[in-house]
Amino acid sequence: MEKPNLAVNVGGISMKNPVMTASGTFGYGQEFAPLFDLSRLGALVIKGLSLKPAPGNPPPRTVETCGGMLNAVGLENVGLVAFAENKLPFLQSLDVAVILNIYGHSIEEYAEMSERIEDLDGIAGIEVNISCPNIRAGGVAFGTDPKIAFQVTKAVRETTKLPLIVKLSPNVTDIAIIARSVEDAGADVVSLINTITAMAVDVKTRRPKLANITGGLSGPAIKPIALRMVWNAAQAVRIPVIGVGGIIDASDALEFFIVGARAIQVGTANFVNPRASVEIVEGLDAYLAENNISDISQVIGSLRT
Ligand SMILES: Cc1cc2nc3c(=O)[nH]c(=O)nc-3n(C[C@H](O)[C@H](O)[C@H](O)COP(=O)(O)O)c2cc1C
Repeated sequence: MEKPNLAVNVGGISMKNPVMTASGTFGYGQEFAPLFDLSRLGALVIKGLSLKPAPGNPPPRTVETCGGMLNAVGLENVGLVAFAENKLPFLQSLDVAVILNIYGHSIEEYAEMSERIEDLDGIAGIEVNISCPNIRAGGVAFGTDPKIAFQVTKAVRETTKLPLIVKLSPNVTDIAIIARSVEDAGADVVSLINTITAMAVDVKTRRPKLANITGGLSGPAIKPIALRMVWNAAQAVRIPVIGVGGIIDASDALEFFIVGARAIQVGTANFVNPRASVEIVEGLDAYLAENNISDISQVIGSLRT
């Protein structure tokens, strides 16, 4: 049999395989370049960028938990201008789709970000993180209200022709409603899930383990929740879905494809095994070959119920 086909097109983003890195867990890409050839991946999703540089939260801001980790890094980043000057040239030299993850504190800020990204070369798409606090709405995340999720997506859509991924927050009652809102507002793709709000306490000091008190839970502990939400979203929308949450190996990734994800992202696993994403590409290749499947598309959405 010929080599199986892993290539996918996700809302206008062409990838040689469906394995992406998850934002905030793979830096600006360059940090991982000594470890393997980054162009073997489907896409790199860059650390969340804001208009101005952001210092993030005070420490401690990460803590290990059973089967995962909590983080309250607070979206620390160099800001869009410094990114474009210092980090982008390296990324442009790679043969891999580069996706910029963005966030803002107001709808206007999101729109300004996407408008400026439109002028940069070598960007395959924008992923909009709507899990961050909306200052005008008392700090409630944009992505937890279907109307606000619609408004942010629409504002970004109006400023860019680039493929638009909206990354959903799992901290909602009904993910299908949010997924449909952003689809109606013009998103090309939805990715999910972002981290789940959680906390941990030191029983000796009776203090929260994170300076921020609460943080986002990620890693294998959240995989079954992520999988259920990806399945819900895939049934609710016609646009492609990207699955994220607790994926550490090819078998985890396959679960997400089977419930309907067109691509997957690898996050916390990068901290444990920095080669996890490329090993998943190899594992998918092997799975397709062993099972005489010629194309990954035959696996996507193949859940038997
Ligand atoms: C330290 C850390 C930083 C993160 N930063 C971002 C970010 O900047 N933007 C974003 O959309 N998601 C961010 N995430 C969420 C991940 O991209 C991913 O959605 C989540 O961790 C679930 O996947 P995982 O279990 O594979 O890590 C971050 C996660 C971690 C652990």
